[in-house]
Amino acid sequence: MDERSATDISLHEPGSALPGEKGLNGKTFFVKTFGCQMNVHDSERMSGLLTGSGAVPVGDPAEADIILVNTCTIRDKADQKALSDLGRIRMVRKDGPENILAVTGCMAQREGEEIFRLVPDVDLILGPSQIRNLIPLIETVSSGNSRVNGTLLPNPEMTTPPALRPKGATAFVTVQEGCDKACAYCVVPSTRGAERSRPVREIVREIEMLVQSGYSEVTLLGQNVNGYGKKGDADGAVFSDLLSEVNAVAGLKRIRFTTSHPVDMSQELLEVMANCSRVMPHLHLPVQSGSDAVLARMQRGYTIGQYRTWVSRLREMLPGFSLTTDLIVGFCGETEEEFSRTLDAVEEFQFEGAFSFIYSPRPSTPAFSWGELPPREVSVERLERLQKLVESQSARRNEAQIGKTVEILVEKWDPETRMVIGRTPQFQNVRGVLPLSSADPSLGDLVTVRIEIASKTGLKGACTGRA
Ligand code: 5AD
Ligand code: SF4
Repeated sequence: MDERSATDISLHEPGSALPGEKGLNGKTFFVKTFGCQMNVHDSERMSGLLTGSGAVPVGDPAEADIILVNTCTIRDKADQKALSDLGRIRMVRKDGPENILAVTGCMAQREGEEIFRLVPDVDLILGPSQIRNLIPLIETVSSGNSRVNGTLLPNPEMTTPPALRPKGATAFVTVQEGCDKACAYCVVPSTRGAERSRPVREIVREIEMLVQSGYSEVTLLGQNVNGYGKKGDADGAVFSDLLSEVNAVAGLKRIRFTTSHPVDMSQELLEVMANCSRVMPHLHLPVQSGSDAVLARMQRGYTIGQYRTWVSRLREMLPGFSLTTDLIVGFCGETEEEFSRTLDAVEEFQFEGAFSFIYSPRPSTPAFSWGELPPREVSVERLERLQKLVESQSARRNEAQIGKTVEILVEKWDPETRMVIGRTPQFQNVRGVLPLSSADPSLGDLVTVRIEIASKTGLKGACTGRA
């Protein structure tokens, strides 16, 4: 067991310069990521810090001096996946005391020291709020040859180190971190800490640099993105103000954001979405359940009636707007009657897409000890019914697109098959075949596609031109 306390480790002061010294020159690193878009971007940020310190990314953990397994813990399955991957990785990792196996992310934060017991050759654990300290912590492990538990350190201020993003059309940008809500099922407030927002000018500066580097679209990330600045921690700006500023960045084509919370919706946000042409007409607004009683037990803070009000206003103000959601079945005490309200909600709101899950009790959440779970086979059967309904709606909606022309932002281009892949403003996946007579596109171009084939997962057609 590592005996040192957090204060023995020399950390980068919040707000201080990022480590620029090339202390990891000649080292190789590999990052494996589980979980949400926030986690994907956290991996990009950790990769940015490692390359900034001289390390080089490799695609195979067996070749890496430093291995990071960036975990998720949202459901039990996420823990199991990360642990089984760790088992595989530790079998192939390089021998030698100078090599480092680090477990980062939400499972590391939740489990803490337990990770060292579960996987004894882990050298470093680090929570999502400690990314800034990655390099000093790696240096501490290398110099002392002992384990370090970075989750014991105090949360540094909200920071976004330079990220190493894949080249492409679209980039993630963190605007807000943490969560102050208290959803009874959710582990995130305990793994990502309290809500904090980045200053507008920093975000705008980062996006301007992304545009200069060739990115055309940004997705603004936050656990509660539309709660941005509500605590007064963004110099008085709130999310609608931020969106207006980002909308003014020259050369940026599209703006998306995720994830929004129904309680933090505002009329100002709707107006900005309606009036700012670069803000895409798509909102991911998790409803979780269609039953007011379940929503109350989940401590979500709204009723279906309030959710309906926002959806009606959105549909009124933004013609062609698309809505996606998250749904949980089998929450504590969920009756058949309560579950049928969720089916009703799916019928009523006509979600363009929905992620649905069986409730998974998480340690350190309010509902963990409540019990009263429906039998497993009942929850499995509810999930199947729910997913069937969502899929049949998607299939119907996608079929209605046949014969229509949509605009997509080119995210992938395969010159062999002359296929472009991208998304509509509403976030639908589209594949389009480019005629031989057309010049090759670049990533980030806007092209129009006439839809010929529809399935439940996406649309396919022929490119008809450039926008
Ligand atoms: N069990 C099942 N699903 C969960 N989610 C969050 N916590 C749990 C849990 N304990 C789902 C919610 C959330 C999405 C990211 O994951 O639907 O919106
Ligand atoms: Fe998983 Fe939630 Fe952490 Fe994202 S924030 S990695 S979904 S536990």
